[in-house]
Amino acid sequence: MTMNRYRNALLLASVVFVFALQPCCRRGADDNTDDLSPLIIDKDAPLLLDEPELSATTGNTAAAVENAACFVCHANYTEEPLVSIHARKDVGCTKCHGKSYLHRNDENHQTPPDRMFGADTVVALCTECHHAHEISDEKLESMRKKRTDKPASAPAVCTDCHGKHRLTTRTVRWNKSTGERL
Ligand code: HEC
Ligand code: HEC
Ligand code: HEC
Ligand code: HEC
Repeated sequence: MTMNRYRNALLLASVVFVFALQPCCRRGADDNTDDLSPLIIDKDAPLLLDEPELSATTGNTAAAVENAACFVCHANYTEEPLVSIHARKDVGCTKCHGKSYLHRNDENHQTPPDRMFGADTVVALCTECHHAHEISDEKLESMRKKRTDKPASAPAVCTDCHGKHRLTTRTVRWNKSTGERL
């Protein structure tokens, strides 16, 4: 961000400089400088610099910026609702899954992230920050049945209704509590 601002300042300085040069150099040939339109800086216009734009859905929080390190491999999560809702509020992947340095740097995909959640641990995580709301057992059961991406035996959890956070296909699996490669 600071880098960005520094570059903006440079860009602006060079624009002003070129403009300042304009009348002096022209004056020799033709003294009519009035037809130079004044420099207008549109502060609301998007800056055409080479920084990638952050998704409008995640905002500019520190967490949204940090999530980019995970999107390198987990591109399918860039628009995922559970991720977006939380990134906007500065809760990033690492808040829930840990910094996971070994995982994110392992190009052989052997090392698991720091924190994984089996169906039996999802509710405990979510309720660290949210008070669970009342949901009837019938509603819970009907939502759970709609999730074809989880085993029928797994208990109903918050993520059955919130987000599309679960993968439908896996290339690598770990035991979610021990981290052992399966
Ligand atoms: C580290 C804290 C934290 C954890 C853990 C967490 N959330 Fe959140 N969540 C937030 C914050 C902060 C917001 C912003 C709104 C708020 O303050 O309630 C939010 C917003 C939400 C919203 C949108 C609420 C609205 O008003 O529209 C939903 C839905 C939600 N979380 C579901 C979950 C689920 C499901 C889990 C577990 C997978 C979870 N959250 C885990 C902090 C957390
Ligand atoms: C059966 C589906 C279902 C389950 C399971 C479920 N929710 Fe919700 N949740 C909803 C619906 C529907 C809303 C209403 C807002 C909406 O339309 O998104 C909601 C709203 C919320 C909100 C927004 C604030 C509020 O209270 O209205 C939060 C936060 C939230 N849920 C968290 C959770 C957490 C945490 C769990 C697990 C303990 C959970 N939900 C389980 C369906 C569900
Ligand atoms: C609010 C907490 C929270 C945030 C933020 C979050 N996750 Fe998760 N993640 C979970 C939970 C809980 C589960 C288990 C969900 C389930 O089984 O229903 C999970 C599961 C996963 C899974 C495994 C899905 C599967 O099918 O086994 C992947 C991959 C994942 N998360 C990646 C990410 C990435 C990448 C980010 C950031 C871009 C992220 N998560 C952000 C809580 C979070
Ligand atoms: C070098 C590539 C790479 C990077 C970078 C990466 N991951 Fe992963 N991650 C993987 C692979 C591969 C899987 C297995 C997914 C599959 O089977 O398709 C995985 C799976 C996961 C899971 C699911 C674990 C489970 O089974 O429940 C979570 C959670 C996760 N990653 C979180 C993160 C987070 C958080 C970051 C950023 C801090 C991150 N990953 C960065 C490659 C990566």
